[in-house]
Amino acid sequence: MGQTLGVRKIHVIGIGAGDPDQLTLQAVRALRNTDVFFVLGKGEVKSDLTQLRRDMLDAHVSEGTYRVVEARDPERDRSAGGSAYSPAVGDWRSARADIYERMITEELGEEQTGAFLVWGDPALYDSTLGILEEVLERGRVTFEYDVIPGISSVSALVARHRTGLNRVARPVQITTGRRLAEGFPEGVDDVVVMLDAHQTFRQYTDEDIDIYWGAYIGTPDEILASGPIAEAAPRIERLRAEARERKGWIMDTYLLRRNPRDEHRNG
Ligand SMILES: C[S@@+](CC[C@H](N)C(=O)[O-])C[C@H]1O[C@@H](n2cnc3c(N)ncnc32)[C@H](O)[C@@H]1O
Repeated sequence: MGQTLGVRKIHVIGIGAGDPDQLTLQAVRALRNTDVFFVLGKGEVKSDLTQLRRDMLDAHVSEGTYRVVEARDPERDRSAGGSAYSPAVGDWRSARADIYERMITEELGEEQTGAFLVWGDPALYDSTLGILEEVLERGRVTFEYDVIPGISSVSALVARHRTGLNRVARPVQITTGRRLAEGFPEGVDDVVVMLDAHQTFRQYTDEDIDIYWGAYIGTPDEILASGPIAEAAPRIERLRAEARERKGWIMDTYLLRRNPRDEHRNG
C-alpha cells in the first residue's frame, strides 16, 4: 500500500462475530500493519469481549510491535425511549467522537497507522465509520482510513444453522428489536433481528414462523436453538435467562422466517 508521508492512517477492521478463525486474511494483514490499536471498553460486563480482542492480537501479531490504547466508552442514556432516543444517541456519538479525536491526536504519530477493531462487519449496526467521519468534519485532526469487511453475526448465525438468509428470489430485512416491537416488517417474510434486549420474538408466537436463534455465536459459550416459534420461544427464553445469569451479559441474534400463508401458496 502506498504510504503518504505525514498522514495518519487508520484501519477499521471487521474481526468477525467472536470466533478468531473468522478473521479474514485481509484483516490479519491489517492487524500486522498497525502501530496503535484503539479499544473502547464497556466496563466489567463486557470485559470478555475486550479479552477476545486481545487474544486475537496475541494470536496474529508479534509482541512488542504495537501498542494498545484503551478508553472507557461513554455511558449511553438507555432510559430515553420513543422520540427522545435519537438525541440521546446523538449525544453519545459526539461524546465518542471526542474520545476518538483525543486518542488519534494524542496517541497516533503523524506517520503511524492506527486501528479500530469492530465486531462482525463495520457496515452493520456499528457507529465507528460515522464517528470517524464526524471527527474528520470537525477538522482538528486529519487522517486517511480504510474499511476491512468482517464476517457479521448475521452471516455467522445462518452458517451455524446451515440455512440461507433469503428464500429463492425473496427479500430479507435486517432490523432491531426496537423496530420489531412496532410490528412485523411489511413486504418481507425473512427478518433478522439484532440488538434485542427484550426478546421481542415473543410477540409473534401465534404466527406460523420458524426462529433460528444464536447467542455468543462463534465463542466457546455459543448457544443455538431453532424451531417453530410457539415451541422454541419458551426454550430460548429459558436458555437466554440462564446464560445471562451465568455470564452477566448476552449478545444474541435471530432470524424469523414466516411461512407463506395460504393465499401466497395459492396465488
Ligand atoms: C452493535 S451490533 C454489532 C453488529 C456487528 N457489527 C456485526 O456485524 O455482527 C451488536 C449486535 O450484534 C449481534 N451480535 C454481535 N455479535 C454476536 C454474537 N457473537 N452472537 C450473537 N449476536 C451477536 C447482537 O444482536 C448484538 O445486539
